[in-house]
Amino acid sequence: MRFGLRFVIWVVMMMGIQMNAQESPTLRTQAETRGLMIGAAVQSGLLANDSQYAETLSREFDLVATEYETKMCEIQRQQGVMDFRATDAIVAFAEAHDMQVRGHTLLWHQCFPPWLERGTFTRAEAINIMRDHIYTLVGRYKGRIFAWDVVNEAIGDQGGKRRTQWRELVGDDYIEQAFQFAHEADPGALLFYNDYSAEGTNRKANAVYDLVKDFVDRGIPIHGVGLQMHLRIGDVSLRRLAGKDEIIANMRRLGELGLQVHITEMDVRHDGLPTPELLAQQAEDYRQVVEACLTVEACKAIVTWGFTDRYTWIPQFFGNPDAAPLPFDKDYQPKPAYEAMINALTNFQP
Ligand code: XIL
Repeated sequence: MRFGLRFVIWVVMMMGIQMNAQESPTLRTQAETRGLMIGAAVQSGLLANDSQYAETLSREFDLVATEYETKMCEIQRQQGVMDFRATDAIVAFAEAHDMQVRGHTLLWHQCFPPWLERGTFTRAEAINIMRDHIYTLVGRYKGRIFAWDVVNEAIGDQGGKRRTQWRELVGDDYIEQAFQFAHEADPGALLFYNDYSAEGTNRKANAVYDLVKDFVDRGIPIHGVGLQMHLRIGDVSLRRLAGKDEIIANMRRLGELGLQVHITEMDVRHDGLPTPELLAQQAEDYRQVVEACLTVEACKAIVTWGFTDRYTWIPQFFGNPDAAPLPFDKDYQPKPAYEAMINALTNFQP
Protein backbone atom coordinates (compact mmCIF):
# COMPACT_ATOMS: atom_id res chain seq x y z
CA MET A 1 0.00 0.00 0.00
CA ARG A 2 1.44 3.40 -0.97
CA PHE A 3 2.97 5.39 1.88
CA GLY A 4 0.59 8.29 1.35
CA LEU A 5 -2.52 6.13 1.77
CA ARG A 6 -1.05 4.44 4.86
CA PHE A 7 -0.36 7.87 6.36
CA VAL A 8 -3.94 9.03 5.73
CA ILE A 9 -5.29 5.86 7.36
CA TRP A 10 -2.98 6.43 10.37
CA VAL A 11 -4.16 10.01 10.77
CA VAL A 12 -7.83 8.95 10.64
CA MET A 13 -7.17 6.24 13.24
CA MET A 14 -5.45 8.72 15.57
CA MET A 15 -8.34 11.16 15.20
CA GLY A 16 -10.77 8.36 16.02
CA ILE A 17 -8.85 7.45 19.16
CA GLN A 18 -8.59 11.10 20.11
CA MET A 19 -12.32 11.64 19.60
CA ASN A 20 -13.10 8.48 21.54
CA ALA A 21 -10.88 9.65 24.41
CA GLN A 22 -12.67 12.99 24.42
CA GLU A 23 -16.11 11.34 24.15
CA SER A 24 -15.80 9.15 27.28
CA PRO A 25 -16.90 11.44 30.11
CA THR A 26 -15.36 11.20 33.57
CA LEU A 27 -16.58 12.48 36.92
CA ARG A 28 -13.93 15.17 36.58
CA THR A 29 -14.96 16.36 33.11
CA GLN A 30 -18.68 16.33 33.94
CA ALA A 31 -18.28 18.06 37.30
CA GLU A 32 -16.11 20.71 35.66
CA THR A 33 -18.97 21.58 33.28
CA ARG A 34 -21.04 22.34 36.40
CA GLY A 35 -18.40 24.36 38.21
CA LEU A 36 -18.33 21.66 40.87
CA MET A 37 -15.24 20.10 42.44
CA ILE A 38 -15.29 16.31 42.71
CA GLY A 39 -12.83 14.52 44.93
CA ALA A 40 -11.86 11.55 47.04
CA ALA A 41 -10.03 10.94 50.30
CA VAL A 42 -6.58 9.50 49.63
CA GLN A 43 -3.65 7.81 51.33
CA SER A 44 -0.06 8.66 50.36
CA GLY A 45 1.08 5.01 50.42
CA LEU A 46 -1.55 4.02 47.88
CA LEU A 47 -0.57 6.90 45.61
CA ALA A 48 3.01 5.66 45.70
CA ASN A 49 2.41 1.92 45.41
CA ASP A 50 -0.80 1.36 43.40
CA SER A 51 -0.50 2.76 39.86
CA GLN A 52 -4.14 2.00 39.03
CA TYR A 53 -5.21 3.89 42.16
CA ALA A 54 -3.19 6.95 41.11
CA GLU A 55 -4.30 6.78 37.46
CA THR A 56 -7.99 6.39 38.27
CA LEU A 57 -7.80 9.18 40.84
CA SER A 58 -6.23 11.77 38.53
CA ARG A 59 -8.52 10.81 35.63
CA GLU A 60 -11.77 10.96 37.56
CA PHE A 61 -11.23 13.64 40.25
CA ASP A 62 -9.93 17.21 40.57
CA LEU A 63 -9.66 17.23 44.37
CA VAL A 64 -8.06 15.06 47.02
CA ALA A 65 -8.68 15.01 50.77
CA THR A 66 -6.23 13.71 53.35
CA GLU A 67 -8.01 10.67 54.77
CA TYR A 68 -5.94 10.40 57.97
CA GLU A 69 -2.36 11.57 57.42
CA THR A 70 -2.90 15.17 58.56
CA LYS A 71 -4.65 14.10 61.76
CA MET A 72 -2.80 15.01 64.95
CA CYS A 73 -2.05 11.44 66.05
CA GLU A 74 -0.37 10.82 62.68
CA ILE A 75 1.43 14.07 62.01
CA GLN A 76 2.55 15.10 65.53
CA ARG A 77 3.27 11.76 67.18
CA GLN A 78 5.90 13.44 69.36
CA GLN A 79 5.15 16.79 70.97
CA GLY A 80 6.49 19.58 68.79
CA VAL A 81 7.77 17.23 66.07
CA MET A 82 5.71 17.21 62.86
CA ASP A 83 6.19 14.55 60.15
CA PHE A 84 5.12 16.11 56.85
CA ARG A 85 6.33 13.38 54.48
CA ALA A 86 2.90 11.88 53.74
CA THR A 87 1.19 15.25 53.36
CA ASP A 88 4.01 16.56 51.16
CA ALA A 89 3.51 13.53 48.90
CA ILE A 90 -0.25 14.06 48.66
CA VAL A 91 0.09 17.78 47.94
CA ALA A 92 2.81 17.10 45.34
CA PHE A 93 0.59 14.55 43.60
CA ALA A 94 -2.33 16.96 43.57
CA GLU A 95 -0.24 19.81 42.19
CA ALA A 96 1.22 17.53 39.50
CA HIS A 97 -2.31 16.64 38.36
CA ASP A 98 -3.93 20.07 38.69
CA MET A 99 -5.99 18.98 41.69
CA GLN A 100 -7.10 20.87 44.81
CA VAL A 101 -6.39 19.60 48.33
CA ARG A 102 -8.78 19.54 51.31
CA GLY A 103 -6.95 19.13 54.63
CA HIS A 104 -8.71 16.88 57.14
CA THR A 105 -8.80 17.62 60.12
CA LEU A 106 -7.05 20.00 62.53
CA LEU A 107 -9.05 19.16 65.66
CA TRP A 108 -11.08 16.02 66.35
CA HIS A 109 -12.21 14.17 69.45
CA GLN A 110 -10.35 11.09 68.17
CA CYS A 111 -6.75 10.54 67.08
CA PHE A 112 -5.08 12.35 70.00
CA PRO A 113 -1.33 11.62 70.16
CA PRO A 114 -0.50 9.76 73.40
CA TRP A 115 1.60 12.67 74.75
CA LEU A 116 -1.50 14.87 74.57
CA GLU A 117 -4.02 12.25 75.64
CA ARG A 118 -2.05 11.30 78.76
CA GLY A 119 -0.53 14.68 79.58
CA THR A 120 -1.75 17.26 82.08
CA PHE A 121 -1.88 20.82 80.79
CA THR A 122 -3.24 24.13 81.96
CA ARG A 123 -5.69 25.99 79.71
CA ALA A 124 -2.91 28.31 78.57
CA GLU A 125 -0.61 25.38 77.78
CA ALA A 126 -3.38 23.61 75.85
CA ILE A 127 -4.11 26.76 73.84
CA ASN A 128 -0.41 27.03 73.00
CA ILE A 129 -0.36 23.38 71.88
CA MET A 130 -3.44 23.96 69.70
CA ARG A 131 -2.03 27.18 68.24
CA ASP A 132 1.39 25.67 67.51
CA HIS A 133 -0.20 22.63 65.84
CA ILE A 134 -2.48 24.72 63.64
CA TYR A 135 0.07 27.44 62.83
CA THR A 136 2.71 24.87 61.86
CA LEU A 137 0.48 22.58 59.81
CA VAL A 138 -1.71 25.17 58.09
CA GLY A 139 1.21 27.54 57.68
CA ARG A 140 3.36 24.96 55.89
CA TYR A 141 0.70 24.48 53.19
CA LYS A 142 -0.36 28.12 52.95
CA GLY A 143 -1.72 28.68 49.45
CA ARG A 144 -1.39 24.96 48.61
CA ILE A 145 -4.20 23.39 50.71
CA PHE A 146 -7.25 25.45 49.74
CA ALA A 147 -9.65 24.24 52.43
CA TRP A 148 -9.37 22.77 55.93
CA ASP A 149 -11.77 20.90 58.13
CA VAL A 150 -10.75 22.95 61.15
CA VAL A 151 -12.95 21.16 63.69
CA ASN A 152 -14.52 17.77 63.11
CA GLU A 153 -17.56 16.25 64.88
CA ALA A 154 -17.76 18.67 67.82
CA ILE A 155 -21.57 18.24 68.07
CA GLY A 156 -22.82 15.09 69.77
CA ASP A 157 -25.44 12.82 68.25
CA GLN A 158 -28.19 14.42 70.36
CA GLY A 159 -27.22 17.95 69.32
CA GLY A 160 -25.24 19.02 72.39
CA LYS A 161 -21.55 20.00 72.42
CA ARG A 162 -19.51 16.78 72.35
CA ARG A 163 -17.35 16.04 75.43
CA THR A 164 -13.82 16.09 74.03
CA GLN A 165 -10.36 16.45 75.52
CA TRP A 166 -9.93 19.77 73.73
CA ARG A 167 -13.11 21.04 75.39
CA GLU A 168 -11.92 19.82 78.81
CA LEU A 169 -8.46 21.34 78.38
CA VAL A 170 -9.38 24.67 76.79
CA GLY A 171 -13.11 25.15 77.37
CA ASP A 172 -16.08 25.66 75.03
CA ASP A 173 -14.23 28.35 73.10
CA TYR A 174 -11.70 25.83 71.71
CA ILE A 175 -13.73 25.66 68.48
CA GLU A 176 -13.66 29.37 67.69
CA GLN A 177 -10.03 29.66 68.77
CA ALA A 178 -9.13 26.91 66.30
CA PHE A 179 -10.82 28.83 63.48
CA GLN A 180 -9.03 32.04 64.48
CA PHE A 181 -5.62 30.28 64.53
CA ALA A 182 -6.25 28.62 61.16
CA HIS A 183 -7.24 31.97 59.64
CA GLU A 184 -4.13 33.63 61.04
CA ALA A 185 -1.98 30.82 59.63
CA ASP A 186 -3.50 31.04 56.13
CA PRO A 187 -5.92 33.93 55.55
CA GLY A 188 -6.64 32.58 52.07
CA ALA A 189 -7.73 29.11 53.13
CA LEU A 190 -11.43 28.17 53.30
CA LEU A 191 -12.23 27.04 56.83
CA PHE A 192 -14.91 24.42 57.43
CA TYR A 193 -16.78 22.90 60.31
CA ASN A 194 -17.32 19.19 59.45
CA ASP A 195 -19.77 16.64 60.86
CA TYR A 196 -21.83 13.50 60.19
CA SER A 197 -25.58 12.76 60.44
CA ALA A 198 -26.20 16.51 60.10
CA GLU A 199 -27.06 16.48 56.40
CA GLY A 200 -30.77 17.20 56.75
CA THR A 201 -32.82 19.23 59.25
CA ASN A 202 -32.74 16.94 62.27
CA ARG A 203 -31.78 18.05 65.79
CA LYS A 204 -28.06 17.57 65.18
CA ALA A 205 -28.17 19.44 61.86
CA ASN A 206 -30.02 22.28 63.60
CA ALA A 207 -27.32 22.39 66.29
CA VAL A 208 -24.61 22.58 63.62
CA TYR A 209 -26.56 25.37 61.93
CA ASP A 210 -26.84 27.28 65.23
CA LEU A 211 -23.11 26.86 65.89
CA VAL A 212 -21.99 28.19 62.54
CA LYS A 213 -24.63 30.94 62.48
CA ASP A 214 -23.26 32.18 65.82
CA PHE A 215 -19.75 32.21 64.32
CA VAL A 216 -20.94 34.13 61.26
CA ASP A 217 -22.83 36.60 63.46
CA ARG A 218 -19.76 37.20 65.64
CA GLY A 219 -17.31 37.45 62.76
CA ILE A 220 -15.40 34.27 63.59
CA PRO A 221 -13.55 33.32 60.36
CA ILE A 222 -15.56 30.40 58.93
CA HIS A 223 -16.31 29.77 55.27
CA GLY A 224 -18.24 26.55 55.08
CA VAL A 225 -19.79 23.42 56.50
CA GLY A 226 -18.74 19.91 55.57
CA LEU A 227 -21.57 17.38 55.39
CA GLN A 228 -19.83 14.03 55.68
CA MET A 229 -22.62 12.04 53.99
CA HIS A 230 -21.62 8.65 55.42
CA LEU A 231 -24.82 6.83 54.45
CA ARG A 232 -26.44 3.44 54.65
CA ILE A 233 -28.22 2.41 51.45
CA GLY A 234 -31.66 4.05 51.47
CA ASP A 235 -30.70 6.83 53.91
CA VAL A 236 -31.48 9.40 51.21
CA SER A 237 -33.22 7.46 48.44
CA LEU A 238 -35.69 5.91 50.95
CA ARG A 239 -35.55 8.93 53.35
CA ARG A 240 -34.22 6.83 56.23
CA LEU A 241 -31.84 9.59 57.38
CA ALA A 242 -32.76 12.63 55.25
CA GLY A 243 -34.56 12.90 51.92
CA LYS A 244 -33.10 14.89 49.04
CA ASP A 245 -35.49 17.79 49.74
CA GLU A 246 -34.35 17.93 53.39
CA ILE A 247 -30.69 18.00 52.35
CA ILE A 248 -31.46 20.78 49.87
CA ALA A 249 -33.22 22.77 52.60
CA ASN A 250 -30.21 22.39 54.92
CA MET A 251 -27.73 23.33 52.21
CA ARG A 252 -29.87 26.36 51.30
CA ARG A 253 -30.05 27.71 54.85
CA LEU A 254 -26.27 27.31 55.23
CA GLY A 255 -25.83 29.11 51.91
CA GLU A 256 -28.04 31.95 53.16
CA LEU A 257 -25.47 32.50 55.92
CA GLY A 258 -22.93 33.11 53.17
CA LEU A 259 -21.28 29.74 53.78
CA GLN A 260 -20.19 27.14 51.26
CA VAL A 261 -21.24 23.50 51.61
CA HIS A 262 -18.92 20.61 50.77
CA ILE A 263 -20.05 17.01 50.80
CA THR A 264 -16.87 15.75 52.42
CA GLU A 265 -16.89 12.00 53.06
CA MET A 266 -19.57 10.27 51.02
CA ASP A 267 -19.88 6.53 51.01
CA VAL A 268 -23.02 4.36 51.02
CA ARG A 269 -22.63 1.16 52.99
CA HIS A 270 -24.74 -1.97 53.34
CA ASP A 271 -24.79 -5.24 55.28
CA GLY A 272 -23.69 -8.53 53.77
CA LEU A 273 -22.89 -8.97 50.08
CA PRO A 274 -23.52 -6.17 47.53
CA THR A 275 -26.39 -7.74 45.57
CA PRO A 276 -27.50 -6.18 42.23
CA GLU A 277 -30.59 -4.84 44.00
CA LEU A 278 -28.48 -3.19 46.72
CA LEU A 279 -26.12 -1.70 44.12
CA ALA A 280 -29.09 -0.27 42.23
CA GLN A 281 -30.48 1.32 45.40
CA GLN A 282 -27.00 2.58 46.28
CA ALA A 283 -26.84 4.26 42.87
CA GLU A 284 -30.06 6.07 43.74
CA ASP A 285 -28.49 7.45 46.93
CA TYR A 286 -25.48 8.71 44.97
CA ARG A 287 -27.70 10.18 42.27
CA GLN A 288 -29.93 12.06 44.70
CA VAL A 289 -27.00 13.48 46.66
CA VAL A 290 -25.34 14.76 43.48
CA GLU A 291 -28.67 16.26 42.38
CA ALA A 292 -29.08 17.95 45.78
CA CYS A 293 -25.64 19.53 45.42
CA LEU A 294 -26.39 20.63 41.85
CA THR A 295 -29.60 22.25 43.08
CA VAL A 296 -27.96 24.52 45.66
CA GLU A 297 -25.50 27.17 44.51
CA ALA A 298 -23.63 27.06 47.84
CA CYS A 299 -22.70 23.38 47.33
CA LYS A 300 -19.28 23.52 45.73
CA ALA A 301 -17.70 20.10 46.18
CA ILE A 302 -18.54 16.41 46.43
CA VAL A 303 -15.88 14.21 48.03
CA THR A 304 -16.18 10.46 48.50
CA TRP A 305 -14.32 8.77 51.33
CA GLY A 306 -12.01 6.80 49.11
CA PHE A 307 -13.23 5.90 45.61
CA THR A 308 -12.65 2.15 45.19
CA ASP A 309 -14.10 -0.65 47.30
CA ARG A 310 -10.57 -2.04 47.44
CA TYR A 311 -9.67 0.59 50.04
CA THR A 312 -12.48 1.72 52.32
CA TRP A 313 -12.63 2.29 56.07
CA ILE A 314 -16.11 0.72 56.29
CA PRO A 315 -15.15 -2.95 56.93
CA GLN A 316 -12.83 -1.93 59.80
CA PHE A 317 -15.43 0.32 61.43
CA PHE A 318 -18.71 -1.38 60.60
CA GLY A 319 -17.53 -4.99 60.46
CA ASN A 320 -18.77 -5.93 56.98
CA PRO A 321 -15.85 -7.48 55.05
CA ASP A 322 -17.97 -7.46 51.86
CA ALA A 323 -18.73 -3.76 52.10
CA ALA A 324 -18.89 -2.07 48.71
CA PRO A 325 -19.67 1.59 49.56
CA LEU A 326 -17.89 3.47 46.77
CA PRO A 327 -18.36 4.31 43.04
CA PHE A 328 -15.59 1.96 41.80
CA ASP A 329 -15.35 -1.74 42.64
CA LYS A 330 -12.23 -3.51 43.93
CA ASP A 331 -10.93 -3.86 40.37
CA TYR A 332 -11.41 -0.16 39.62
CA GLN A 333 -14.45 -0.87 37.47
CA PRO A 334 -17.27 1.71 37.57
CA LYS A 335 -20.39 0.56 39.44
CA PRO A 336 -24.02 1.64 39.01
CA ALA A 337 -23.26 4.38 41.54
CA TYR A 338 -20.59 5.78 39.22
CA GLU A 339 -22.96 5.73 36.24
CA ALA A 340 -25.61 7.44 38.35
CA MET A 341 -23.18 10.22 39.30
CA ILE A 342 -22.07 10.70 35.68
CA ASN A 343 -25.70 10.78 34.54
CA ALA A 344 -26.70 13.32 37.18
CA LEU A 345 -23.69 15.55 36.46
CA THR A 346 -24.40 15.37 32.73
CA ASN A 347 -28.17 15.60 32.54
CA PHE A 348 -29.76 16.79 35.78
CA GLN A 349 -31.50 20.15 35.55
CA PRO A 350 -32.59 21.51 38.97
C1 XIL B 1 -11.37 7.50 59.28
C2 XIL B 1 -10.35 7.00 58.25
O1 XIL B 1 -11.02 6.68 57.03
C3 XIL B 1 -9.60 5.80 58.79
O2 XIL B 1 -8.58 5.46 57.87
C4 XIL B 1 -8.99 6.14 60.13
O3 XIL B 1 -8.38 4.99 60.65
C5 XIL B 1 -10.08 6.64 61.10
O4 XIL B 1 -10.75 7.77 60.54
N1 XIL B 1 -15.39 10.59 60.01
C6 XIL B 1 -14.27 11.31 59.80
C7 XIL B 1 -13.04 10.69 59.29
O5 XIL B 1 -14.32 12.55 59.89
O6 XIL B 1 -11.87 11.34 59.80
C8 XIL B 1 -12.99 9.22 59.60
O7 XIL B 1 -11.93 8.69 58.80
C9 XIL B 1 -14.30 8.56 59.21
C10 XIL B 1 -15.44 9.15 59.99
